[in-house]
Amino acid sequence: MTRIALVTGGTRGIGAAIAIALKESGAQVAVSYAGNDEAAAAFTAKTGIKAYKWSVADYDECVAGIARVEADLGPVDILVNNAGITRDGMFHKLTREAWQAVIDTNLNGVFNMTHPIWPGMRSRKFGRVINISSINGQKGQMGQVNYSASKAGDLGFTKALAQEGAFAGITVNAICPGYIGTEMVRAVPEKVLNEKIIPQIPVGRLGEPEEIARCVVFLASDDAGFITGSTLTANGGQFVV
Ligand code: CAA
Repeated sequence: MTRIALVTGGTRGIGAAIAIALKESGAQVAVSYAGNDEAAAAFTAKTGIKAYKWSVADYDECVAGIARVEADLGPVDILVNNAGITRDGMFHKLTREAWQAVIDTNLNGVFNMTHPIWPGMRSRKFGRVINISSINGQKGQMGQVNYSASKAGDLGFTKALAQEGAFAGITVNAICPGYIGTEMVRAVPEKVLNEKIIPQIPVGRLGEPEEIARCVVFLASDDAGFITGSTLTANGGQFVV
């Protein structure tokens, strides 16, 4: 049976690797993106996966965007809430805008995407919701009070909703990537990355987006039906929960 998968923030970084891996696993895949038309066009040209533009931070845009995807591909079976942003800064310098933007995308975005899709998954008695949280939602990170709070919120969301989904054949899980070699991590000042972060990773390197994508393919599979409410940690040993 071909499953329909939707990956938010799926044209770049970890999301792009997830979308490609899900396609290779046999799913029909759509991705959403918020702003970078050029990256989206390049992604679609390379992969053949259609990209739809809307902001996960806006509930009404999510409802309309999901309707477009479902009209093209059919009901969404696998939702990967991957879209995320950083607005790093020490707390004493953190603006209200930087707080709000990160909460709106990383935490409210997970609600805005899952809530409209959930009733269909319940009625079809099958669903996979996979939330891409972060090591920094587990351990906290200086300079990232907003991001850490949003990603910790995603873990609470996952654990609570998993208990509701279990009655209806829906699993809800989270993945906590460590530092992965994407644009987001490369935006960290080089000195901080090389002197503070990489030395804290026992395997001695950044992760690859494909290493997170393989976790998603596993949790999305029919074989993973007994796994729900879990947090899969993939961080090179940087933080052992
Ligand atoms: N780990 C350990 N030490 C850190 C650190 C980190 N992640 N980030 C900053 N520091 C240290 C700096 O090295 C510096 O110490 P020294 O004075 O001893 O050198 C001190 O904290 C102050 O840092 P800055 O001088 O950089 O202060 P700033 O005000 O100019 O910038 C900052 C602060 C914006 C937070 C910047 O340091 C920064 O971007 N840090 C990285 C924060 C981070 O880890 N972000 C993760 C982004 S990737 C991601 O979020 C994906 C994911 O899920 C993992």
